Amino acid sequence: MTPNPALQPSFTGDHRNPARASNARWKAGAAPSVVSLRQADSDANPKVHLDGISLSYKTNDGKRLLALDNIDLKVQPGEFLCIVGPSGCGKSTLLHLIAGLNQPTSGSVLMDNKPVTAPGTDRILIFQELGLFPWLKVGENVEFGMKMKGLSKAERRERVDYYLRLVHLSQFKDSYTHQLSGGMRQRVALARALATEPDVLLMDEPFAALDAQTRDLLHDELERLWAETGRTIIFVTHNVREAIRLGDRVALISFRPGKIKREYRVDLPRPRQLEDVSVALCAREILDDLRGEIDKSLREQYGDKEVHA
Ligand SMILES: Nc1ncnc2c1ncn2[C@@H]1O[C@H](COP(=O)(O)OP(=O)(O)O)[C@@H](O)[C@H]1O
Ligand SMILES: [Mg+2]
Repeated sequence: MTPNPALQPSFTGDHRNPARASNARWKAGAAPSVVSLRQADSDANPKVHLDGISLSYKTNDGKRLLALDNIDLKVQPGEFLCIVGPSGCGKSTLLHLIAGLNQPTSGSVLMDNKPVTAPGTDRILIFQELGLFPWLKVGENVEFGMKMKGLSKAERRERVDYYLRLVHLSQFKDSYTHQLSGGMRQRVALARALATEPDVLLMDEPFAALDAQTRDLLHDELERLWAETGRTIIFVTHNVREAIRLGDRVALISFRPGKIKREYRVDLPRPRQLEDVSVALCAREILDDLRGEIDKSLREQYGDKEVHA
């Protein structure tokens, strides 16, 4: 695993100590550094390429629901892409397609320009429920995915130690997961995912159930791990501030059918904090775009009454 220096974000503060470095750089009155992009970047060698994908589900009454409609998206190697959109707009569906757990109705999903037809060890999906095994110790949980991958015992042991160190959980290697806090369990899940050394981490609202303080810490941890390992991350959230805290780019998906409504490049310096003024200003810009989509989704859920998100 060789971190790619070209992909390292230009951290200037101590990322372990949220010194509010980006706040320090914030100048009152400066324009927010979020740039709206009309089209995806057109690099010839994307890590992940969604090429005109659409997906419709069969509903219980025999009709079809168009969940995703003609999505074109390119994700560059080492990029941190965040995807935002209202509940039910197809965010999880999109990640499942990239993970190879589902196939599009039309269009194709490409990894390194090769079609994705099934799950593979080059991509890993991390979600809120974690999927840790309570009967296995922390170290064994981290080892599990590597066993599936057929790595030798010696290599597995080496990686368990390395990745537990990386998420600062070495001393909990022999604990059971019920002995850990929610945030620590989330870090075990991260270590387990990273230990299989996938090219792409697919994260589906992984921190949504955590308290604010734990989530802040995990943002710091995830950003550090991303910087140290040079992985490509596609991170789904319905929280716009979280997307700006973490992403190089934010893609906004519209509600029914799910289309890429707009993309934004986030040019704020790292590390960022959720409560930074600059993050709030950028979030405001995206939220204005998102609000109409949230209204549509609420109307769908609660009927035709006037609703305000
Ligand atoms: N297996 C399925 N069968 C039928 N409809 C589904 C299935 N999975 C998701 N959907 C529908 O597709 C839409 C998008 O779902 P999802 O991707 O879970 O949205 P999100 O993650 O953005 O909340 C929703 O309307 C949901 O009800
Ligand atoms: Mg979802």
